[in-house]
Amino acid sequence: MGDVWRDNSLGLDGSRVIDRRIYVDPAIYAAEQEQIFARTWQWVAHESELPEFGDYVTATIAGRPIVVSRGEEGRISAFFNTCTHRGALIAPHARGNSAGSFVCLYHAWCFDTEGKLTSAPIPAAYGDNLRKPCYDIPQVRCEIFAGAIFVCLDPAVEPLERFLGQSAPYIETFLGRHQALGRVRWVMEGNWKLWHENFRDNYHPMFTHAVIGANYQGVKIEGVNLDLSQGHSLLAFPSQGNPDQIKSSVRRLTGRPMAADVTVRARPTAGATLNHNIMAVFPNLDFQNSGDGVLQNVLQVVRPLSIDRSVVELVAFGEVGEPPAVRQARLDRCLDGQTAAGKISGDDNEAARRCFAGFGAVREVRWSNMDRGQEQGVQGGKNDEYSLRAFYSAYKEYMAGALAAGG
Ligand code: FES
Ligand SMILES: [Fe+2]
Repeated sequence: MGDVWRDNSLGLDGSRVIDRRIYVDPAIYAAEQEQIFARTWQWVAHESELPEFGDYVTATIAGRPIVVSRGEEGRISAFFNTCTHRGALIAPHARGNSAGSFVCLYHAWCFDTEGKLTSAPIPAAYGDNLRKPCYDIPQVRCEIFAGAIFVCLDPAVEPLERFLGQSAPYIETFLGRHQALGRVRWVMEGNWKLWHENFRDNYHPMFTHAVIGANYQGVKIEGVNLDLSQGHSLLAFPSQGNPDQIKSSVRRLTGRPMAADVTVRARPTAGATLNHNIMAVFPNLDFQNSGDGVLQNVLQVVRPLSIDRSVVELVAFGEVGEPPAVRQARLDRCLDGQTAAGKISGDDNEAARRCFAGFGAVREVRWSNMDRGQEQGVQGGKNDEYSLRAFYSAYKEYMAGALAAGG
């Protein structure tokens, strides 16, 4: 498809427009699996989601089923979630406990917490062969940063911390003294990139989300939108409005009080004025937190199921040892706003769905626009699109060969 960025007839800088074929072309979708998902560190779980021996979490990355498992002496390992006999998944659930042995449903081969074959029923028929390493499940690269467990399918990719680059300190701040409280998962109708764009877009909240829009009345829009390089980015801004204002606008819009008392305060972030942070890690992960009042500390990851359907997973975090009232308020607030049926994510789902439906006219209306923010350099105002352009500049590099070959 030639150069999907420069070859536009709009008279716009090619780094500021997006060829909509990247959302709908099956060849590009297939290339993304190998060029992006198989070549980046992919977040799978937080250590606190696997506290006990035998705990596991599964994920599908670039089409490969993977299991991350806690074994002897607390060791975390990752391996492919496929039986070496004839292929069945050995860990069937999104999350579970193997009790130390993954027993395949089909012929009951057993694997330990690191994927090594430990037994097979009626073994005599194999002679001595079961001792061969080919019966153990191959490992997947796995590294942990600040409690966040990532895997990578490509042995040639740089170590995790280098991959995280400038995003690493934010992850440390976000996860320090925190534990996962739970996950929700839903399917979004649309290409995965639309959800990740939504992470990085602060132009939309006051329009898409009635509950936020009301709170913006009369508020000066402040904050930054920053390219952290390597495809990562940060939005940082001060609290917009105040908790009482949020409560009264929710009541006005919904006729009901807010589920959580947002005036319950978490510990304020020392010295922070830009106390809301949304930090996106290339290509499909983001961390959102606020340092005061509005108790929000979530991570989101989006993974494609197909070109037009994606799974979004959201993990809520809370401070270790925080008072029960704060913990409850945090969970209520998260469910109320950030899940598929929440006041915020529900709107974002609909925005993504409408964009994807709009791409039906891709032949006639080919370009999407990401031109906000004209200052030179890597940083602009909160509602600018430096963060989106950061994503697509990395996307372009990862996909270079595939896009050029697309024809
Ligand atoms: S496929 Fe797993 S034991 Fe046969
Ligand atoms: Fe949104």
